[in-house]
Amino acid sequence: MKKFLDLISEEMKTAFEKSGYDGDLGRVTLSNRPDLCEFQCNGAMAGAKKYHKAPIMIANEVAENLKDSTVFSQVNAVAPGFLNLKVTEAFLKEYLEEMQSTDKFGLQMPEHPRKIMVDYGGPNVAKPLHVGHLRSAIIGESIKRICRFAGHEVIGDIHLGDWGLQMGLIITELRLRQPDLIYFDETYEGEYPKEAPFTISELEEIYPTASAKSKEDAEYKAQAMEDTYRLQNGVPGIRALWHHIMNVSIADLKKNYAALNVEFDLWKGESDVHDMIPAMVEKMKKDGFAHESEGALVVDVKEETDTKEIPPCMILKSDGASLYNTTDLATIVDRMETYQPDKLIYLADKRQDLYFEQVFRCARKTGLVKPETELIHIGFGTMNGKDGKPFKTRDGGVMRLEYLIREINQEMYRKIAENKSMDEEEAKKTSEVVALSAVKYGDLSNQASKDYIFDIDRFTSFEGDTGPYILYTIVRIKSILNKYKEMKGGLTDDEVKKNVAIGEAVNPSEKDFMLEITKFNAMLEAAYEEVAPHKICAYIYDLANAFNHFYHETKILTEEDERKKSGWIALLLLTKDVLEICIDLLGFSAPDRM
Ligand code: ARG
Repeated sequence: MKKFLDLISEEMKTAFEKSGYDGDLGRVTLSNRPDLCEFQCNGAMAGAKKYHKAPIMIANEVAENLKDSTVFSQVNAVAPGFLNLKVTEAFLKEYLEEMQSTDKFGLQMPEHPRKIMVDYGGPNVAKPLHVGHLRSAIIGESIKRICRFAGHEVIGDIHLGDWGLQMGLIITELRLRQPDLIYFDETYEGEYPKEAPFTISELEEIYPTASAKSKEDAEYKAQAMEDTYRLQNGVPGIRALWHHIMNVSIADLKKNYAALNVEFDLWKGESDVHDMIPAMVEKMKKDGFAHESEGALVVDVKEETDTKEIPPCMILKSDGASLYNTTDLATIVDRMETYQPDKLIYLADKRQDLYFEQVFRCARKTGLVKPETELIHIGFGTMNGKDGKPFKTRDGGVMRLEYLIREINQEMYRKIAENKSMDEEEAKKTSEVVALSAVKYGDLSNQASKDYIFDIDRFTSFEGDTGPYILYTIVRIKSILNKYKEMKGGLTDDEVKKNVAIGEAVNPSEKDFMLEITKFNAMLEAAYEEVAPHKICAYIYDLANAFNHFYHETKILTEEDERKKSGWIALLLLTKDVLEICIDLLGFSAPDRM
């Protein structure tokens, strides 16, 4: 389905051509002066030079040619040559009718769907999730859903950090605490126990302890590096222990991500590509891309046009150990071989900008990807506390995601429980749903690259540009629809849909509301192309505002004119569906009441 602005631009284009001017001048945009008009066209101004004519003369001629337009109800040529436009109620109504009956509300599906992989989440095994991982999960999940809705084949991969020094640290600490564990007996050849010799809470305590020790104790650190080496080189007992760490940790991660409504298609990690590194490195050497520099193996990635220094991409350290880069490059090899994606989207802190620039250049230069494969890093900003500094716990530690979520749930519960008609169970469930909207909307409504302040009071407010406000609006619509169904003797949703039809707007607030709805397909196309979930937030916020304005001016259920009432109910149904699709794309849902 065509976009609303494109459709009305076509009408304008024809009028320019009829008047003897270039049709391209007929591009219509949203109005800069909503007090005067809904849309505007500045083509006459642009055409003045070319046609050596006063713009107002051109504008007048075009306006004359639109006198009988079924699209425009108002075409005012105003000095010095703007065309101020309003669309007809009938045209607007037809557009919404078509939107309602078209799959995905008229979003155009791609002729050639692409295969897209989204690398997000990126937690590190055995380290508790902290707020830094929250943004990756929230934004990545939304991007995945947007790409899928836009008609592409999308695979989300968590890309676990499961292979580095943190694993060695845990193993070293475990050996210290439980030296008799069978895993450390190198002469042992039997089967290893099925049960892990630790719980998740122990694991979460072990890592920070070990990490702190390694910073003070060089011998301890050397031991951890040794254990990392043993793990990576397949010492059976160490591998068996690692599998336990993985299983315990992944079970916990799954629980945490499920609570965030975040779902991965693949649970691959750095360890999965370990065995692919030697062949990849060999090839890079053989093709003449990798060379030695100060003992290390590097690939130069600087380009003549660079305005800043881009250091070489290090492939192997001087001791032959691989790095974060190496795993990311080998992961690209794996992804290209196994899935052949057209596009790879990475979610990681924007402080990793340079890092990804190096990795992407290296992947291109060494031919790991096709020239047309798109590599995109969405570098997100920091989530700060009210003091403008990275979010911390009250005592200054790194805020664990679980605690943060718990805090918001409690705050939300306090608000929801004020609604006395809900029992405790429902209030608890509802507050979790609403709290998730607060966190996700609070994050996604900012452009990803920007830092933002995590403000619990603002995010959980039922008013303003917040998730709970959007949910509140949806709940309000649902409640009107339910009352309508009751009034009609208990109609089902489907029966209502069959019985109502969108009508022509009867007042300005209804028309504004309808005009907001029409922006859906253009907005979603932009959200996909620009990888920008915040566009969905902006759209639903405007739409919710337009609806609420209309609602305050219109007595919907007590309206006596059945035709009018039916038109409004139809409009509400469409709005509810659109809003619910949008919040699903953002990764949260609405309760039935709140
Ligand atoms: N595990 C990394 C971290 O915690 C994030 C991984 C991002 N993805 C990637 N392919 N490098 O910082």
